[in-house]
Amino acid sequence: MGGTVQDTLRIIFVWLHILGITLWVGPQFFLAVAWVPASRQIADLPTRVAAMRTITRRFGYLGGFGLILTMVAGTYLISDWRNHYAQPSDVDFMSLRFGVVFVIKMTVLMVMLAVIALHMFVLGPRQLEKLEAQARGEHVTEEELRRVRRQSMFLSVSGLLLTLAIMVMGVMLNTTSWSLQEI
Ligand code: HEM
Repeated sequence: MGGTVQDTLRIIFVWLHILGITLWVGPQFFLAVAWVPASRQIADLPTRVAAMRTITRRFGYLGGFGLILTMVAGTYLISDWRNHYAQPSDVDFMSLRFGVVFVIKMTVLMVMLAVIALHMFVLGPRQLEKLEAQARGEHVTEEELRRVRRQSMFLSVSGLLLTLAIMVMGVMLNTTSWSLQEI
């Protein structure tokens, strides 16, 4: 019976972990593949910038929720790890590939969160402000716009690549014929 409850909880939390990842990763590809070209077709600049503000804010809510869901579910998965894989308490976490990959995964996650924070709170808003100033008819040079767009784009692409690397490490953890080997 105990096993059944544990297994049910595990199924639910792996599902939540993956659901959160889809909400975080899916819209990033969608924005790049669908929204960026679509936005260029909005000829009226104020309308284009207003739509951009709405879509990026909504992406922030959705992706942020997904990321939090992933982290909450991941916290459950790691807390249940020893019990689920029946690892005796004298097996040192860091003596297994599982422990090492997990620590690297968490480190890359911290870097990814820093990159995303810089994009969301500094460079993204700066880019929108410049576009809004241009839409109001204020003087903004193309060079200024290009620079902030390039920096902002660099951060969003880096954040996505780091996310994809974190996913690979998650699957490495889950491949227990490999990850539960001693180093
Ligand atoms: C606080 C943050 C996180 C913790 C504590 C955590 C923990 C874990 C653990 C323990 C597993 C292995 C589950 C198992 O034994 O099978 C796992 C799997 C996985 N993680 Fe995370 N994780 C976190 C964040 C993330 C993030 C941000 C991503 C990607 C965006 C991610 C992607 C994955 C993937 C793809 C898997 C494989 C899913 C599967 O089990 O089939 N994780 N995570």
